[in-house]
Amino acid sequence: MPTASLQISYSLANIENAVHQFWQYANQYRILAFSGEMGAGKTTFIHHLCDHLKVRDAVSSPTFALINEYHFDDNGTDRVIYHMDWYRLKDDDEAINAGLEDCLLQKDSYSFVEWPEKAINLLPKPYLWLSIEVITPEERTMTIELRA
Ligand SMILES: Nc1ncnc2c1ncn2[C@@H]1O[C@H](COP(=O)(O)OP(=O)(O)OP(=O)(O)O)[C@@H](O)[C@H]1O
Ligand SMILES: [Mg+2]
Repeated sequence: MPTASLQISYSLANIENAVHQFWQYANQYRILAFSGEMGAGKTTFIHHLCDHLKVRDAVSSPTFALINEYHFDDNGTDRVIYHMDWYRLKDDDEAINAGLEDCLLQKDSYSFVEWPEKAINLLPKPYLWLSIEVITPEERTMTIELRA
């Protein structure tokens, strides 16, 4: 297992390349936690990642719903993605009551979580911690850290 973290820098002009490079490393992990300030680009990156995976459903920010469910064809297998936004969560209990833990633990599913720090104890290891940093209005750097 790698101990050093990886970094990917990108703008909207080359985000498809960043997503492609990212997924080659990240696809083996079920839980992806996207950290970063408001407007850092968490939803934008997830949107492009879902496009890359040819998700069949409309991808949108789940801020009000807490969770969106998407499907894609993973080499002939129907694969579920849970796209969650924990910004409005108060604590772990609220997350559990909303059924979010069940989604995280569901075998063979992926979970992409925005604002994971709101209920960090709920994240089952191993997971990837992805910090998106705003460098300039156009440039972002994502740091990828495996937490196992
Ligand atoms: N390189 C980039 N990557 C991602 N977004 C970018 C980039 N450059 C500019 N942007 C812009 O930054 C904004 C990012 O918004 P986005 O909704 O993805 O942020 P977020 O991290 O999901 O915020 P929130 O915490 O409110 O959910 C968008 O308006 C997008 O067009
Ligand atoms: Mg968002």
